[in-house]
Amino acid sequence: MIERDKNSRVLLLQSYAGIELQGDCPYKSCYAKAASYGNAANRLDHISRSRSFYDCLRNPSSFMTIITFMALWTALLSCNICAANGLAKGLIKQSVSQQVRATNDHQTVQNNFMTDTTGGKDATGRKVQALLSKMTLEEKIGQLNQYNGDWAATGPVTRTVQDKLQQIREGKVGAVLNITGTAHVRQFQQAAMKSRLKIPLLFGMDVIHGYRITFPIPLAEAASWDTAAIKKSARIAATEAAAAGLNWTFAPMVDIARDPRWGRVMEGAGEDPFLGACVAQARVRGLQGKGLGSLDAVMACAKHFAAYGAAIGGRDYNSADMSLRTLWEVYLPPFLAAEKAGVATFMNAFNDLNGVPATANRYLLRDVLKGQWGFKGFVVSDWGSIGELVQHGYVMNDQQAAAAALEAGCDMDMESHSYIRYLKQLVQEKKIDPALIDDAAGRILRKKFELGLFVDPYRFIDSTRERLTLNKPENNAAARDMARKSMVLLKNKDHLLPLSAATTQCIALIGPLVKAKKALKGFWSLNIDPNEQIPSLWDGIQAEAPKARLCYAKGCNINDSLRLGFQEAIEAAQKADIVIMAMGEAPDMTGEAKSRSNIHLPGVQADLIKAVVATGKPVVLVLMAGRPLIFNWAKGKVPSILYAWWSGSQGGLAMADVLFGKYNPSAKLPITFPKSEGQIPIYYAHYNTGRPATSDSDKLYKTGYIDLSIFPAFAFGHGLSYTTFSYSHFSWHYCTYQNQPAIAVSFALKNTGKIAGAEVAQLYIHNIISRPLRPVKALKGFKKVMLAAGASKNVTIYITRQSILSYNEKLEKNVLPQRCQFLIGSASDDIRLKSAIIDHLFEKPPGGTR
Ligand code: BGC
Repeated sequence: MIERDKNSRVLLLQSYAGIELQGDCPYKSCYAKAASYGNAANRLDHISRSRSFYDCLRNPSSFMTIITFMALWTALLSCNICAANGLAKGLIKQSVSQQVRATNDHQTVQNNFMTDTTGGKDATGRKVQALLSKMTLEEKIGQLNQYNGDWAATGPVTRTVQDKLQQIREGKVGAVLNITGTAHVRQFQQAAMKSRLKIPLLFGMDVIHGYRITFPIPLAEAASWDTAAIKKSARIAATEAAAAGLNWTFAPMVDIARDPRWGRVMEGAGEDPFLGACVAQARVRGLQGKGLGSLDAVMACAKHFAAYGAAIGGRDYNSADMSLRTLWEVYLPPFLAAEKAGVATFMNAFNDLNGVPATANRYLLRDVLKGQWGFKGFVVSDWGSIGELVQHGYVMNDQQAAAAALEAGCDMDMESHSYIRYLKQLVQEKKIDPALIDDAAGRILRKKFELGLFVDPYRFIDSTRERLTLNKPENNAAARDMARKSMVLLKNKDHLLPLSAATTQCIALIGPLVKAKKALKGFWSLNIDPNEQIPSLWDGIQAEAPKARLCYAKGCNINDSLRLGFQEAIEAAQKADIVIMAMGEAPDMTGEAKSRSNIHLPGVQADLIKAVVATGKPVVLVLMAGRPLIFNWAKGKVPSILYAWWSGSQGGLAMADVLFGKYNPSAKLPITFPKSEGQIPIYYAHYNTGRPATSDSDKLYKTGYIDLSIFPAFAFGHGLSYTTFSYSHFSWHYCTYQNQPAIAVSFALKNTGKIAGAEVAQLYIHNIISRPLRPVKALKGFKKVMLAAGASKNVTIYITRQSILSYNEKLEKNVLPQRCQFLIGSASDDIRLKSAIIDHLFEKPPGGTR
């Protein structure tokens, strides 16, 4: 490694000096390509990535060439390295001073450079310390190194390592990802047991919404607003994953996302920090179960820290730029909630935030996470993100990247190979403090102790448990239940739904997703069992309405311009009593690196809907997608629309449950659906502005567009039921809740329809006057209440004073609204009850000015 590194420097010198290699060098083209790169950093990077160049240097025909190079190298190396080094230090210093300025601003300066998790007074801390004292520098660095397994990649493979098992035997690897299944995991753990100190490996994977049994995508689960069900889904995922040998999942993703063009909108809980925080906690608790060390728990990982969801233009990996106040108000709350729930690990984001890449963002990682929040777990980089500091233009080369990331507080390097290649040298050259390596390794070892891996490194590797745990029928039932709880009834004109299995005689099922099976699992399903039986919507309806005649016409493909199937679809519709159309996105259209600029229904699907509706038959539209789509014509003309998202391996049955009324829909949108891409970002918790528009005709010198509505297609919190609910008897009073000053908001909720159903009652605070400004409306509580037909219930939602506080310009969380109002509603745009206007909340008794 050191040799290769030296070679790189020699070459860098050559390219600086413009010296051509002499003689017959078989790798001239490599050098030529490198030399053609615009800047030295890229040249160095290219060459250091070229594994074969070492041979090239050993083989030039003229020995004198080498001597000349060496002499020149010795003379110039010091200048270049010093310059590079100086630049890196300068950059790091600059970022540190920027961040320290920011932290000073809000009085959270952390004097401690690192958090002491290795020493500690607790028993685990002592064990960590004892182990560290036996470890060589290389072995400590090995703990910081994570490699991808050799069979699946969830990111770009930029470097291949010939013998990962050999490196594991040498103690050069602390964790692997994408190795799964007890047989495979055992093979890797056995290699680790051959290393000098027998330090077990961590096995991580993206278990995002289920391991083998696939639950609905996270955005869909968030639509249930049912944190108990979400926790249960995470619990089942963890139980399966742990039985398959894993002890770590890279979930939950808790990034707030307000841009549905962003492909990863599917992976989070939507646009709202309050809902996002509740879902984050439920997921962490579900994944980590009774705690690390339980055989059915895995380490959770809150990702991507931070502001990844604010990618400009919705382009994945793009920069995020925002005020620190917005960061703290909107993007950090779910991370803080995850930390409070005891999440074991964090993953840093790919993006740069306000000019500093998250991977090297000392403010985020050291000052906020490990300092202010006191996080004791470890931070893993995102895939290759340490190496990407070079592409960001933040450092010159991988060596500087390694220094910048470690100093910033990134403990483990996922797949950029920078730590394993450069940290030792950086310590030897006194460019980084070895205590940083102890701190990072100590954090990782602590988790290995907590997982019980030092007691038994094979404790998660039990093939019998694996066989007995995966694909349990009761877990399929839970996935089906979660799926139906996630489906949002967007529209139901004249109560077309639910359908009656007894009286419906002929159903036409039309659309490219009617018979979709694997596609129901969505983008992040890495563990597909080829033998798994996945029921489609067609299968679900056949089972639900066995007496009905079903006919099928695909009509069109998901995303092309062919209309050859339109006529068949029209004929099928003409013969039917009712038409169910299944339309939407392919699973590879939403997910990582799957941002879209056009989020209308893809291909000719919208035209197929028009053609089928023109038959005059009643149409139910079932939409399957990973993000909010735009379907304005259908919204206006199709009587019933069910948003089913990507609903997982039991989604086909769950859709039928909802369509035929076996389950009364109760989900509410966790994200605003726009009418046009031109409105993005559009979210309910916006500020009032000095020129608010009250309607789309109120355009003159008002905030809005001259050619587009300012209102969404469907608002945050929207979702219908087959029954109706009334709200009444509003009151509120001060109280103490969880030992804190709080407010109890009460009201009566009644099911006024003919069937049982659940309502998600939402409590918003309407901020009228506040300094600094606050959003016009902000969710502060919700309750999902199940009511029998005709039943009513008094509902109380508690809000603590702490949860109403917002940040001032100095990032102190101490601002209460000067004038506000409580709103209770069925959606952010369907407010049913309002308090009087309240001045000086928490300072004056209940009552209002109006
Ligand atoms: C993603 C992470 C994921 C990692 C490992 C990255 O590309 O951004 O969310 O955990 O790959 O698969």
